[in-house]
Amino acid sequence: MDRMHVTEMLSGIQLPGHLHTPESLQYAKEFQFREGDVLIISYPKSGTTWIQEILTLIYSQGDPAIATSVPNWMRAPWLEHTYFKTTVKDEEGPRFITSHLSSDILAPALQNSKAKVIYVVRNSKDVAVSFYYFHKMAKFMPNFESFSEFLEHFLQGKVYYGSWFDHVKGWYSQKANLDMFIISYEDLYKDLRRSIKRLCGFLGCPMYSKEVDKVEHHCKFAVMSQNVMVNYTLIPQEILDHEQSKFMRKGVVGDWKNHLTDEQNENFDKMYKEKMSGCDLQIVWNV
Ligand code: A3P
Repeated sequence: MDRMHVTEMLSGIQLPGHLHTPESLQYAKEFQFREGDVLIISYPKSGTTWIQEILTLIYSQGDPAIATSVPNWMRAPWLEHTYFKTTVKDEEGPRFITSHLSSDILAPALQNSKAKVIYVVRNSKDVAVSFYYFHKMAKFMPNFESFSEFLEHFLQGKVYYGSWFDHVKGWYSQKANLDMFIISYEDLYKDLRRSIKRLCGFLGCPMYSKEVDKVEHHCKFAVMSQNVMVNYTLIPQEILDHEQSKFMRKGVVGDWKNHLTDEQNENFDKMYKEKMSGCDLQIVWNV
């Protein structure tokens, strides 16, 4: 498959071409959100699939029937992808929708709606590492010779979906304008049970302790990585090559320490300070 791209129309951000078209992006921008919609928004590799699984299980009160029979991209379809239009449910009831689009594109429509937004954020060093391995496996992503080369592009925002800094700052700045819950990958990792309960509170879905037990069990890395409905092994190898890297790769906090040299780490910290100045979001780098 060609490693092609299209240029996103408003902000100049590049997106993988076989998943996005100008029409699908236009549809996403004009989409009418409604009460009951729950949007999962993230920069890539931040724990999006994890939240998709948690939401599925919260709404099924811990029953894994849907989580183990319907692929995650059908349960919570991607707003900006070409298949969204024909996949999104029209009937009443909660709709889960996923997106990597930036706040300048989506926030205006969301501000005028009663949709709930869950923004999942992960420390940018682990995102860079996870994204690098995703580029190795995803045949529709550009090929980088080394982690070092990828890191340079990542820090400059010259990767698909643009700059992590802009994405995170942009969405974080919307927290007072939207019905938005911000949760971090590191929160999920440190205390999955507490995170599930906090999400239940935000969603208005009270659960019995035994149900929370089940959600927690099915959302553990060891269980999710074996679930073919979320581990992306259903996608043909010529699109996602699991021999290069697994989608459910390591699932830990702090793998960046195995990848960044001291010099790269210092440079990263410098860049982080500059780019995130004025933003009081607390990022956790280690647990
Ligand atoms: P790693 O590559 O660091 O392992 P996304 O869904 O946004 O693409 O994010 C994918 C990352 O989330 C991968 O990170 C994947 O392993 C991790 N992940 C998914 N489910 C997880 C879970 N239950 N526990 C820990 N990490 C999980």
